[in-house]
Amino acid sequence: MTYASPVLIGYDYWRQRRDQRNEAVHWDPQKLANHHIGVSGTSGAGKTHWIREFVEGQSDDVEIDIFDYHGDIEVPGAQTVLFSETTQYGYNPLVLNPDPHYGGVRRAINDVITAIGKTSRQLGTNQEAVLRNLLLDAYALKGISPSNPATWYRREATDAQIQQLIERQDWAGLREVYPTLQDVTTLARRKLKALWMGIEDKDEGRQVLTAFDEFCRVMASLNQRRMKNASQASSDMELAQLESKLGSIKTKALEGFTTFLERMQSGREFDEVVKYNSKDVLLSIITRLENLQATGLFNSNPPPFGNARIRRYNIKPLAQSEDELLMFVHFRLQAIIREEMQRGESGGRLRRLVVLDECKLFNDETRDNPINIIANQMRKFGLALLQAGQSPAHMSEDFLASAGTLLLLNMSPTHWDGAARKLKIDPKMLRFMQPQQTGAVRLTEKGEIPMFRQVSFNERPTFRT
Ligand SMILES: Nc1ncnc2c1ncn2[C@@H]1O[C@H](COP(=O)(O)OP(=O)(O)O)[C@@H](O)[C@H]1O
Ligand SMILES: [Mg+2]
Repeated sequence: MTYASPVLIGYDYWRQRRDQRNEAVHWDPQKLANHHIGVSGTSGAGKTHWIREFVEGQSDDVEIDIFDYHGDIEVPGAQTVLFSETTQYGYNPLVLNPDPHYGGVRRAINDVITAIGKTSRQLGTNQEAVLRNLLLDAYALKGISPSNPATWYRREATDAQIQQLIERQDWAGLREVYPTLQDVTTLARRKLKALWMGIEDKDEGRQVLTAFDEFCRVMASLNQRRMKNASQASSDMELAQLESKLGSIKTKALEGFTTFLERMQSGREFDEVVKYNSKDVLLSIITRLENLQATGLFNSNPPPFGNARIRRYNIKPLAQSEDELLMFVHFRLQAIIREEMQRGESGGRLRRLVVLDECKLFNDETRDNPINIIANQMRKFGLALLQAGQSPAHMSEDFLASAGTLLLLNMSPTHWDGAARKLKIDPKMLRFMQPQQTGAVRLTEKGEIPMFRQVSFNERPTFRT
C-alpha cells in the first residue's frame, strides 16, 4: 500500500511578491483535520485538473466513487461506466440494507420519498401518502415486513433475471428477489383499475380484479391472434380455444362481481376507496414512476464496475434530466453512507471518497441531504466528500464549515459577493485570482485556526526556494 502523498498546490503569493521567494504550499492529508475537499471556480479555471490531483494523492487503499457530470474526469486506473437511457445501467432503489440498525423498509421508503421531494416536482401530501402505501404493499407482496428484519434479506436480481422468472412462472423464485419500480408501477395500475371499478384490492375484490385482469389479457391475445390470422393462416383450433377460454373467464369475472355486489354492506365501499386515493393522484404517481423507469437509472441493471477501486459514473448523457440525476446521486450517496456505517468505525482512517462535480445541483441546507450527513457525521466512518462547483456559495454551510481543504480558483464576478459573504472573507481576495495563475487555499490543519492563503500556481525560476 502506498500512503497518501502530499500534493503541491503552489507557492505563497505574498512570499513571491515581497520576499522574492518560492515558498511551497502543500496539501498533506496526514496533517489535515478532515478529508473533505471543496474546489470552486468558473469553467475552465481548473476544477477538473485539481480533482485529478487530489484523487491521485489519495492512499491506494481508498475507494473512490466519481460522479462525473461533464464526462471529463479521467483518472488512471478508474473503471468508467456510462449511464444513459440506452445503456440502462442503474440501481434498484427498493433493494434493502438488511442491517437491523442501519437498514430496513422504512428507511428505504423514506429515502425514495426524500429524494423525490428534493426535485423540482415535489410530491403533494396525498401523492406522498399514496406512494408510501404502494411501496409498503410492493414489499408486503414479497413477504417483506417493516417490523421484521428477518424478512429484509432478498436476492438482488437483474431485470433480465426477473424476466426469466416471470416467463418460467416461478412465483416462489420471484418472492426471493426485491421488488422493483416495475412492480410498484404494476401494482399502482392495478389499484387504478380497482378505483375505476369501485372495488377494493383485497378479499373478494381481489378475486374480481384478478378475473378482470385475466379477461383483459386473454382478450388482447385473442385480438393479436386474429390479426396474425388475417395475414398468415394459422389454426382455427387455437382461436376457438382462446374464445372459449375467454367465455369461461368472463363468467368467472361476472360471478365474482355479482358476489362482490351482493356482499357490499355499507354501500360506502366505493367512497372509502376514493377517499384514500383519488384516480388523479394515483395516475400522477404512475406517470412519475414511469418517467423514472424510462431513464434507466433506477432499473435493476448493476453497472459493470467489477471490483474496481476507483469507480467513475459517467452521467453526462443525463445532464439534461436534472431531477432524475439529483435523485440518482442522492440515492447512491444514501446507499454509500449506509454501507460505510455498516462497516463500522474506521479509527480516523479515510476509507472512501466521493467526488461530485457541478455540486450546485446536489447541495441544499437541509439536514437530511446526504451531502450534509457526510459532512457532519461520516468522518468516524472514514467517508469523505470532494466537491467542485462554480462558487463556494453552491456548497452547503455544513460542508463549507467542515471541509478541511477549500481551494478557490478564478471566479466569475457575478459570484464574488455571494461567495465572500458565505465564506466571511473580504471580496478583494476573490478579485485578485487569475485563471490558472493564482488562487486561494484554506487548509485546516489539526489544532490550527484555518486561514485562506493566496497562492501562485507557478514557480518563479529566478526566486529563491
Ligand atoms: N494548475 C493547472 N496547471 C496546468 N493546467 C491547468 C491547471 N489548471 C487548469 N489547467 C488546464 O486548463 C484547462 C481547463 O481546466 P479544467 O480543469 O478542465 O477546468 P474546469 O474543470 O474548472 O472547467 C485544462 O486543459 C487543464 O488541463
Ligand atoms: Mg470541469
